[in-house]
Amino acid sequence: MVEVVVGREVTVTFDGKRCVHSRNCVLGFPNVFVPNVQGEWIYPDADSVENLLLIGRNCPSGAIRVARNDGSVSSEAAPVVNTVRVRENGPLALEAPILLRGEAQGSVRATLCRCGASANKPYCDGSHVAAGFQATGEPAAKESAPLEARDGVLEVSPLPNGPLKIAGNLEVVSGTGRTLNRVTQTFLCRCGQSKNKPYCDGSHKAAGFVAE
Ligand code: SF4
Ligand code: FES
Repeated sequence: MVEVVVGREVTVTFDGKRCVHSRNCVLGFPNVFVPNVQGEWIYPDADSVENLLLIGRNCPSGAIRVARNDGSVSSEAAPVVNTVRVRENGPLALEAPILLRGEAQGSVRATLCRCGASANKPYCDGSHVAAGFQATGEPAAKESAPLEARDGVLEVSPLPNGPLKIAGNLEVVSGTGRTLNRVTQTFLCRCGQSKNKPYCDGSHKAAGFVAE
């Protein structure tokens, strides 16, 4: 269910299906996102507009979006550098103007499943925890040249029963922020079985991975 809460100066949109429970919102601003209550829990007037926009930008999944009511600013401005962060034992966190299967996303952030267990593919739904998924967030870096451009539209295409095909300018970044690779096209594992994570090595076939 998507909740839309209109405040005096900003509107907060919360898409619960996208939330991966990183809890940046409730830990950073418990006055705005009040945890563990019944009913109303989002208070857009409880902090400054700048901090509300920051909450939106810090939500890794894109579940939270914040926009000024006059339309002048939003948390969804395209980043200067497109990135995918490899989360330790967890999902791939993208930040870029994403076209998913050719469709624009409401958000420039998305956390995508790489363990194969999500019931909400291609998004992460937190299933990696129960699945006991283990994968480093600090894989080895590859030799790569600086990109001519670092921004622009990123096309994300989940291939049937296979990896995420990604086309566009992208830096692959480790959990601690190391540059691992710079690409204009890559195939990222989403079955959880590759021996060369975060990249696909074809293991999805032998694993019998099934996904739309
Ligand atoms: S994914 Fe976003 S909405 Fe969900 S807990 Fe983290 S910061 Fe909050
Ligand atoms: S999708 Fe995992 S190895 Fe290809």
